[in-house]
Amino acid sequence: MIKLHDLYFKPFISEQQIDNAVQNMVDSIVADLDGEMPVFVGILNGSFMLVSDFVKKYPKPCEVTFIKLASYEGVKSTEDIQRLIGLTQDLSGRTVVILEDIIDSGKTLEEVHRIFANENVKQLLIATLFYKPEAYDKDFKLHYVGMEIPNKFIVGYGLDYDGLGRDLPDVYQLKTTQHMTNLVLFGPPGAGKGTQANFLKEKYNLVHISTGDVFRYNIKNKTALGMLAKSYIDKGELVPDQVTIDMLNKEVEKNAAAKGFIFDGFPRTNAQAKALDDLMDSKDSQINAMIALEVDDEVLVQRLLERGKTSGRPDDADESIIRNRIKEYYKKTAILKDYYSDQDKYFGVDGVGSIEAITQRLSKVIDRL
Ligand code: IMP
Ligand code: MG
Repeated sequence: MIKLHDLYFKPFISEQQIDNAVQNMVDSIVADLDGEMPVFVGILNGSFMLVSDFVKKYPKPCEVTFIKLASYEGVKSTEDIQRLIGLTQDLSGRTVVILEDIIDSGKTLEEVHRIFANENVKQLLIATLFYKPEAYDKDFKLHYVGMEIPNKFIVGYGLDYDGLGRDLPDVYQLKTTQHMTNLVLFGPPGAGKGTQANFLKEKYNLVHISTGDVFRYNIKNKTALGMLAKSYIDKGELVPDQVTIDMLNKEVEKNAAAKGFIFDGFPRTNAQAKALDDLMDSKDSQINAMIALEVDDEVLVQRLLERGKTSGRPDDADESIIRNRIKEYYKKTAILKDYYSDQDKYFGVDGVGSIEAITQRLSKVIDRL
């Protein structure tokens, strides 16, 4: 992912794919022109990279020139096309091939046709690397199209967002969901996960999704997914991952304007972690980090025994049960630690100290994401 000015873009078309598309355009054009020497006319600024790569690949002699038009402001096409540099040579009788980086609404292309209307060229062929059919509302024929793309704003390979991004060799697409901070929070029982989640959600304006709460809410309110989940629970079976993911999806959609989410209690398996990645991906977003609060076993045991004295939770009172819960936790999370480490997303944070000190350590991780 990259950031240009205020916006985030995700990888969309690789250098290699672009290279193939340019090569295909060259092959079709050279075959059609049958020995005739063309004049390639690049439309500046966006087409400079395409023109350079294109003519390097073009296997026969050719001429190259440019005209400079401007129509875009920010990420929107405007009505006005400005002619900044016009034609500087006589092209009458010549075969002209326009080389455009991208054809969007077609307004620029309309201006190109206006420019050539009185030039008496032999033929005017239009070649564009990228073409957005959903945005195009003109009737001019496009003779050569490198790649059709959806009607979303892209940058890279000559294309810019307010001046930035032209230099990128790959093409990136504007993310529909802008940057979120999505965390998976882990910690053994007694690590202070709940306390820290509360601080983090305030500080970073995140929505805390505790899978346990989501289950209880859906079952209590008898939602369709809640009833489905209950039918498995009542039979003593595990709730299938897809049901849980569907519930989480609902929570994520309910909070569409959120700055991000703290997932708590999910995922617990590799398959669930993958399913969560897919869910975030479908929202044009991602899990940024798994943060695990690390606390020494003996400290946990002491903390939980202390808590047991006042909380009345029976599983906090028995030392061997406590030790077992801690062991279970490490058995389950070890796999996930690997899963997120492989993506450089695992962050262990020392969970011993004052609440504020731990919040500060967590913040240090989050601020760097
Ligand atoms: P049109 O006149 O609407 O067809 O737009 C053509 C011009 O707008 C291109 O030459 C680009 O300069 C710019 N443009 C259109 N779509 C994009 C895009 O997705 N990213 C960056 N520039 C674009
Ligand atoms: Mg252009």
